[in-house]
Amino acid sequence: MQQDAMFSRRSVIGAAAALPIASQLAAAVGDDEAWWRGIAAQYDVTRDVIQLENGNWGMMARPVLAAYAAQVARVNRQSSFYARRGMNADLDAVRHELAREMGVGDQEVALTRNATEALTSLILGYNRLKPGDGVLYADLDYDSMQACMESLRERRGVTVTKIALPEPATRASLIAAYRSAFDANPRIRLVLLTHLSHRTGLVLPIREIVALARARGVDAIVDAAHSWQQLDFRLSDLDADFVGVNCHKWLGNPLGVGAVHVRAAALDRIDRHPANPADMPDTLEARIHTGTVDYAAQLTLPAALAFQRGIGAARRAARLVALRDLWVSKVRDHPRIQVLTPDDAALHGGIASFRIAGLTSEADNKAVAKRLLDQHGIFTVHRTGVAKGACVRVTPAVFNMPGEMERLARALVEIA
Ligand SMILES: Cc1ncc(COP(=O)(O)O)c(C=O)c1O
Repeated sequence: MQQDAMFSRRSVIGAAAALPIASQLAAAVGDDEAWWRGIAAQYDVTRDVIQLENGNWGMMARPVLAAYAAQVARVNRQSSFYARRGMNADLDAVRHELAREMGVGDQEVALTRNATEALTSLILGYNRLKPGDGVLYADLDYDSMQACMESLRERRGVTVTKIALPEPATRASLIAAYRSAFDANPRIRLVLLTHLSHRTGLVLPIREIVALARARGVDAIVDAAHSWQQLDFRLSDLDADFVGVNCHKWLGNPLGVGAVHVRAAALDRIDRHPANPADMPDTLEARIHTGTVDYAAQLTLPAALAFQRGIGAARRAARLVALRDLWVSKVRDHPRIQVLTPDDAALHGGIASFRIAGLTSEADNKAVAKRLLDQHGIFTVHRTGVAKGACVRVTPAVFNMPGEMERLARALVEIA
């Protein structure tokens, strides 16, 4: 039992705080690039390629990986003896820590397996739609959420409107796009908003659009899968009633943990999940049913949060933007390279996508990404579904170095 005492409820949280976190490194080195090299050294990144496709999921830093390995060993060793006697209290503590990080109430967050589970629970469980009402989404929203919004046509008898977001976009043109969609379809009652697009990296002015929607009696479901922990904000800043996130992208937690946030006042607008017992208290958790999950991954959340806190949200966001600016600034004025995110600092984070002029098909952009990999050793990914055509997405992480971004810029100029 001595080994297991390491994992008492308090120590699950405490262990994370004791990790060799970034702030200790900050004290040790003065120069900023040296500091970031110290952070990069905490990731066991493949050297086979320059990894600029960090949008699929985020790597765990070494201390997080070690915490996860310890939790896997512990959950495996104690098995049901732990699960039936103390794990739920530990998971509640983890959930409350997550809620505090998000700036929302303890009872306003439930754990899911990913952002998809969080957002589909919201879209499909939203119970205020009546036949003849309308719902709205945009071309840059995530494919499976678009499909769920489309499914409301049959499920709820609503009309479904899809808009193409402006490209190039400005803050005003984005707000105007939603305003005119609401004006043209006064029966719209629900809108899906993606805070940071996985296709182009475009950031929507969520707070303003949520306010615009609310003033017209429209509820907004916010997909923050790519924004939370990439940008410097707390969920409460969005002023949104319904938000879905995952913890395996920018938080760098093990794969398989996400979360849903519903404001207490909006809870009754989401149906309870039918698989939950009828006598389960009427909480947000009664709206989600995951079955058995990777509990070790959930229990690792405090370690992932501690690692990110060690970097600091503002410093992390600024670094990702600086890495993005390094390559974008070198190709922005090239006549054949279109960078799809605007330079307005409010409209992007670290992700940005580009298109070589005239190359708009999926095949074209697959070929560009392949050429970057084959000839320059740089790994990116093509993205489709943008109204004006496919593109290639570049997603730096905190372990990428300025020289890698400069190599990308040189490669793009050569290809273009
Ligand atoms: C914008 C966006 N929403 C939702 C998801 C789904 O996230 P998850 O893989 O956690 O289900 C993704 C994943 O890439 C995404 O980019």
